[in-house]
Amino acid sequence: MLCENIARAADGALLFAGQSVNALADTYGTPLYLMDEDRIRRNCRMYRAAFRDAFGEDALPLYAGKAASFRQIYRIMAEEGLGIDAVSPGEIGTALSAGFPAEEIYYHGDGKTDADIAYALDRGVGCFIVDNGDELISLSEQAAARSLRQKVLLRITPGIDPHTYHAVNTGAVDVKFGVPVETGQAMEFVRAALGMKSLEVAGLHCHVGSMVFDEDVFLRTIDLMVGFMADVRDELGFVFRELNVGGGYGVRYTDDDPMADIPARIGEVGARLRRRIAEAGLPLPRFLMEPGRSIVADAGMTVYTVCSVKRIPGYKSYVITDGGMTDNPRYCLYGAAYTVLHAAPRGKLRAIFDLAGRCCESGDIIQPAISLPAATCRGDRIAVCTTGAYNFSMASNYNRFGRPPLVMLRGGESYLAVRRETVEDVRALDL
Ligand code: LLP
Repeated sequence: MLCENIARAADGALLFAGQSVNALADTYGTPLYLMDEDRIRRNCRMYRAAFRDAFGEDALPLYAGKAASFRQIYRIMAEEGLGIDAVSPGEIGTALSAGFPAEEIYYHGDGKTDADIAYALDRGVGCFIVDNGDELISLSEQAAARSLRQKVLLRITPGIDPHTYHAVNTGAVDVKFGVPVETGQAMEFVRAALGMKSLEVAGLHCHVGSMVFDEDVFLRTIDLMVGFMADVRDELGFVFRELNVGGGYGVRYTDDDPMADIPARIGEVGARLRRRIAEAGLPLPRFLMEPGRSIVADAGMTVYTVCSVKRIPGYKSYVITDGGMTDNPRYCLYGAAYTVLHAAPRGKLRAIFDLAGRCCESGDIIQPAISLPAATCRGDRIAVCTTGAYNFSMASNYNRFGRPPLVMLRGGESYLAVRRETVEDVRALDL
């Protein structure tokens, strides 16, 4: 199977985290997001242990909440001892409402408004990751007005192409994030920040992309970041004490994707960092990363009920479900691949279908050309695997469909973490 939390019972019924997918769908209804809490915790512990081994005790993985942001996930992250990367007042407020400590929140974003900055400052968010010079000025003014000295990391763009798909390639020189090193602007950005009394410049940040499998990408990132740290020391006489190289490790959506050995990769990054830091004659910085997808993706599964099976002779066949691009827009946006499984056995004969949703546009496809039992019919349950990252968090109310509930699976039991959105919820903001 794609991941060890997916299995078939002796009668062929699909199991996720050891529980019957059909039974969960009966209990909670569909469409339904399932999240394997034990798997999330295991992934967190994998990161904590790999970080300790590679970089020492004070290194900290920050969970990138953009992958899946809801109250319960922040409780889990607090218990597992991870920090948080948040990108909006909504993510910050959700984390705080779960009791997540404000000091452990790193606040991201390339378009923070004055109101966003005020929101985070007033709640004691530990660190701002400043994206650009405009934000720097607003933040320093607002921090000064509150007599604060706000800790910041400065986001720079090292100029690396991580060979991933365009929408998630964030390290190249001409992307909208951060300040480029190549053009000389990053040095001026650091100089400006160091001149601001209300800011405490702790370190540097970069993020080169998502779904990264290329083993070389983070090693090249370390080379460039340490090189820039040495340039800053030489030119401005300043030594950074934190280095955050963002998120990005890839996960397996299908059997064709490689199996990434993340602890081994982190070990290599640690060795490279120590080497480059020693060569540059710098002190070892506290090391941070921001994994999102690799913590929650393989903990997720989405379950649908088939509404219709439509065969167009000589053309193609569709399995139309009660979900769609509203709960998983990733095929529509990126052409993302997924593994699709029928939740119960239905004979040996298979056929090829497009798995479609119920939104009013022909592009509403969850996954094209998948193999399912030929006898698949209305009422059957279909599971899409590895949907824990960027599905719930990217869901919409297009066509005014309510978003599915999110059910956590823990130790053989299940509980509701986010309830289903009702028609009343969907129209609740209309005046
Ligand atoms: N840090 C920063 C600054 C980021 O921009 C991201 C992802 C992460 C960390 C987490 O990266 P991860 O470990 O999850 O790869 N919606 C797209 C993914 C967008 C990623 C955006 N930034 C998708 O569904 O594939």
